[in-house]
Amino acid sequence: MKLVLIGCPGAGKGTQAKILSKHFGLAHISTGDLLREQVKSETPLDLKLKSIMESGGFVSDDIVSELLSQRIKADDCKNGYILDGYPRNVSQAEGLSAIVGELDRVVDIEVADELIIERMSGRRSCGGCGAMYHVKYNPPKAEGICDSCGGKLITRSDDVPETVKHRLDVYHSQTAPVIDYYNKKGIVLKIDGSKPIDEVSKELTELLEKL
Ligand code: AP5
Repeated sequence: MKLVLIGCPGAGKGTQAKILSKHFGLAHISTGDLLREQVKSETPLDLKLKSIMESGGFVSDDIVSELLSQRIKADDCKNGYILDGYPRNVSQAEGLSAIVGELDRVVDIEVADELIIERMSGRRSCGGCGAMYHVKYNPPKAEGICDSCGGKLITRSDDVPETVKHRLDVYHSQTAPVIDYYNKKGIVLKIDGSKPIDEVSKELTELLEKL
């Protein structure tokens, strides 16, 4: 199965992708995670990318598409994958068909902008294994410590309210048209992402099991 999860920053793409990936045995590919891993080398190009990401803008299509093309060749993608954060504009969507052919479904996780600032300011992620938490909606057992690996929980530098507002603007102008692009192909599933995490995943799993 080849799935794409689309939704504004904080809609829950990463959270749901992790759950679905375990349930269906699919690889979870987050272009945000691939880029955060890439910029750790701190070459001059990496530093440029890091500053674009911290400002909430998009990294160039060429760079992200190359990272994606390489990742998709890995063995764990043979049974299918879930793309989280790609495509993010119509040009990436057009390029994606050339790389992977037809998709099975595009899941549009809908959440109103008003809910997003609170979600983002409460997000914590594990610097070790990447597990995701929220101080209110999905707290770890011990504050600041990952339940899975005991790693330290961190706050992402692009989760400050001003940057989140900019990321929402960029989402509405550049990513929302991708949903229309896939609507014309008749493969979009819409999900209310404002419900609690387990309700969203239950609904989504049931819909995808019917495919
Ligand atoms: P990326 O990492 O992809 O960021 P994003 O798309 O802005 O999405 P987020 O990861 O912030 O949110 P999410 O929807 O995954 O929500 P999550 O599950 O974490 O990209 C970062 C940057 O990289 C971009 O800004 C750009 O610069 C660059 N980039 C990446 N891809 C690119 C591309 N294709 N082209 C160009 N540039 C690219 O949930 C958020 C919080 O809410 C968590 O704390 C979670 O626990 C909580 N939560 C989740 N669901 C619920 C729920 N139902 N109820 C209550 N709380 C919930």
